Order: sequence, then C-alpha cells, then structure tokens
Amino acid sequence: MNKILVLNGSPRRDGIVYTLLKEIIKCAEENNEIEWIDIYNLQMEPCIGCMKCRTDDTCVLPKDDAHIVGEKIKKADVLIVGTPTYWGNMSAQLKVLFERNVPVFMGEKASGIPLAKQKGKRAVIVVSCTTPWPFNFIAAESRGAVSAVKEVLHYGGYKVTGKIVKPGTKINNNISEKILSKARKIGSSL
Ligand SMILES: Cc1cc2nc3c(=O)[nH]c(=O)nc-3n(C[C@H](O)[C@H](O)[C@H](O)COP(=O)(O)O)c2cc1C
Repeated sequence: MNKILVLNGSPRRDGIVYTLLKEIIKCAEENNEIEWIDIYNLQMEPCIGCMKCRTDDTCVLPKDDAHIVGEKIKKADVLIVGTPTYWGNMSAQLKVLFERNVPVFMGEKASGIPLAKQKGKRAVIVVSCTTPWPFNFIAAESRGAVSAVKEVLHYGGYKVTGKIVKPGTKINNNISEKILSKARKIGSSL
C-alpha cells in the first residue's frame, strides 16, 4: 500500500489532464492510498526569491497551502503530476507550488552540489497540448512542459516510471483507447 499524491495542474475539471489522471487512479485506488489536489484551488503566494529556504529548509512566507502541500509531498511514496502545456511549460499555479517548495525536493551540500531529498520515489507525468504531433515535440510544446516537470522531479531524486502525452487537443479532443489503456496500465503498476 503506497501513498499516492496526485497534483492536478489543470484548472479545467473534466479536461484532458483531469480525465487522464482519473483514469490512472481508477486502476491504482484498490491497492493504494490516494490523495488528489487541484492546484488551482490552492491559496498560495508566489515565491519572493529570498533564497532563505536554502538555509532554513522551509519557506519564510506566512503559512499557506504551499507549505501544507509540501508536507504532503514529503509523505507521499508516489507523485502523479499532471499539467496542460502553457507557453511550452507547466501551468503557472503548478510552477508556483514547485517554486515555493524547492527545499522539499532538493538541498545543497556544503560544496554546492545538489542533494536529492525524495530519492528513490516514483513519479508519473501527464501532459496535454493543442499542438498536434510531431510539432508538439519538435517545437518543444508538450516536450517543454514534460521537461520542466522532469527538472523538478530529477532534482528531487524521483524515478519517472510513467509518462502520458496527449497532443493535438484543438483538432481532436477525444482521448484514444491507446492513451487510455496506457493510463490504466500505469495505474495498475503503482
Ligand atoms: C494560457 C495557455 C497557454 C497555452 N500554451 C500552449 C502552448 O504553449 N502549446 C500548446 O500546444 N498548447 C498550449 N495551450 C493549450 C493547452 O495546453 C490545451 O488546451 C490543453 O489540452 C488543455 O488541457 P486540459 O484540458 O487538461 O486543461 C495553452 C492554453 C492556455 C490556456
């Protein structure tokens, strides 16, 4: 029984990312404890760039939802991160959450070398974008969003064990059986 934390970085209920995340957890909920967080419902201030978290190990801002979710990330065995592609990146609110929680993911050794704080944990990434294949990849649309999420997970020491990308959502909003079955397979593997 693993603790799975789902970070839904899409503001659209019943959108593509939301639907894929639901499909994954449908197949994971029997064997795991699951908590779902809609990032766009969180009340959190943006990072002020003071860098104090690098020495204090926590954010100096008054306690808000970013601190609360940071504690949940620490306790979770598996992180499932979903985001639509916004300007070739993850969505703004999801990025705020990650910026507010740098010390949850990484520390720095005295030498300045990064220290992974969630080493050995598993993660899954779900991304959608309107740009159709292969331009979503060539032009760094969904590729940009995936790599931005991976940047955080990589420094945290997570192993990304599953990735789902749904491109071309402007022309085709339907999620193919192939993608849905990949979501179910990932869910069953958790
Ligand atoms: C602010 C904003 C920026 C976006 N930027 C991109 C982009 O850079 N590339 C792209 O292909 N789609 C972009 N999109 C389209 C979304 O990624 C697309 O509609 C996605 O399928 C929405 O996923 P959802 O249904 O899970 O919310 C953008 C949409 C919004 C609202």
